[in-house]
Amino acid sequence: MSLDERKNFIKPPESYWIASTPTTDYPTLTEDIKTDIVIVGGGMSGISCAYMLLKEGVKVAILEADRILQGTTGHTTAKITSQHGLIYNKIKSKMSMEFAKQYADANESAIRLIEKMQRELHIDCDFMHQPSYVFTRQDEYVQKIKDEVETASSLGIKASYVEEIPFDIPIKAAVRFENQAQFHPRKYLLALAKEVVNQGGSIYEHTRAIDIEENGAYVITTNQGKRVTAEKVIIASHYPFYNKHGMYFARLYTERSYSIAIKAKEKYPGGMYITAEEPAKSLRSQMSDDGELIIIGGEHHKTGQGKDTTSHYEALIAFAHDHFTVEDIPYRWSTQDCMTLDDVPYIGHYTADTPNLYIATGYKKWGMTTSTVSAMLLSDLIIRGKSPYQDVYNPSRKTIGASAKEFVKENINVAKELIKGKFTPIPKDFDIKPGEGKVINGLGERTGAFRDEQGVLHLVNTTCTHMGCELQWNSAERSWDCPCHGSRFTYDGKIIDGPAVMPLEYNRDVNIFEKLIKDDF
Ligand code: FES
Repeated sequence: MSLDERKNFIKPPESYWIASTPTTDYPTLTEDIKTDIVIVGGGMSGISCAYMLLKEGVKVAILEADRILQGTTGHTTAKITSQHGLIYNKIKSKMSMEFAKQYADANESAIRLIEKMQRELHIDCDFMHQPSYVFTRQDEYVQKIKDEVETASSLGIKASYVEEIPFDIPIKAAVRFENQAQFHPRKYLLALAKEVVNQGGSIYEHTRAIDIEENGAYVITTNQGKRVTAEKVIIASHYPFYNKHGMYFARLYTERSYSIAIKAKEKYPGGMYITAEEPAKSLRSQMSDDGELIIIGGEHHKTGQGKDTTSHYEALIAFAHDHFTVEDIPYRWSTQDCMTLDDVPYIGHYTADTPNLYIATGYKKWGMTTSTVSAMLLSDLIIRGKSPYQDVYNPSRKTIGASAKEFVKENINVAKELIKGKFTPIPKDFDIKPGEGKVINGLGERTGAFRDEQGVLHLVNTTCTHMGCELQWNSAERSWDCPCHGSRFTYDGKIIDGPAVMPLEYNRDVNIFEKLIKDDF
């Protein structure tokens, strides 16, 4: 990494999608309301679902904890594709050919629906068709690529086997899908959100759902103490916060991944790419007001686990230097994704016994098409009682039983992280430089400390408010991250990502800690 690139790391990460679009200013909910359907979560799923339901004449309100489209949707790579890694052969062999067909049809339909909506609503969102590729540089993946081509083709996807891509990257094989697409997600969705309001829907920002009561209807309580009564509820808030049903905390885990947007001397040759092998690297381009950007993504790891998070940006920068003449890196950002036990999202009834409570989660890094699948599937379930894609995405599908090994593995991992956080000794190290965060043990208690550039110390209780795991410092994003279910908090304790619904205890007696630090040196 060059000196200039290192200096960039002093600036907080910034997503190109958010930096290049206006901030929203929807109201906060300040009174009790009644609606037909309440949607928890103002990301792509929530906005797209609301739009589809409003077209059917249903009254809808969206509750968003922060600003809409700032979470995973604002930090994506924004590929609109049915090519979700090497997924089709996996679904065919672990679930069934019929499920693979539903998955293919759902995602191909989602591409066509986004294309149709941006055209019909005249949304200028940089939509363009692109082929997409999964490529490998390793011999052991070649047969998997061949199998994927065969299965995807038999499902009606226009897929082909190729041995070259238009990059100076020596590959062994690739599967190419035709008629895929890319866009600017916030340009598309900010316009769609306006349509939601134009058609009578309501959007409330800075309105966090913190509890649900069930008494015939559903009553959602917000963090301001307001109550929303609705006949039906869709939870599209990424990791579900509602634990009464479904045990989602035991069958979802979270991963973080990273993106950089570079300016390069070379012109990008077109197409969207991802490696079959891990840690994955992905590529696409995007035209900005300041010329062409190449977006390089990948480097995933479990939230709150693994090495120093800054190293993941460094690995992407090293990859960029290996394949391009890098002139600038104007943007970098990271995101968080929910992963399911069998690699297929959970979209449908929250459980088999909750006919009026719905969920959309576990998109596994393929949120653009999957959010649109959620909108199609859930609006069909709610309005018509069935969807052509409901079986493969059914959160209560029987095939999840076949993932028992994954279930045990993930839950042992959570238990290990819980115990590790409680019993790992904390070194007596009070030297906290500006810009640095660490766990300290000044008063016999585990405390998270971050010193900002002005020298002010920020202290939080590092016990996660969701289920009590101990948080880890994320140096790249300056956040406290939970290794158990992925809740994240700012350095001063505010919630960034759920399932937690309560902030961290903040700013205990800073003066005592400052004295300890002074006495230590
Ligand atoms: Fe569940 Fe932290 S997110 S314990």
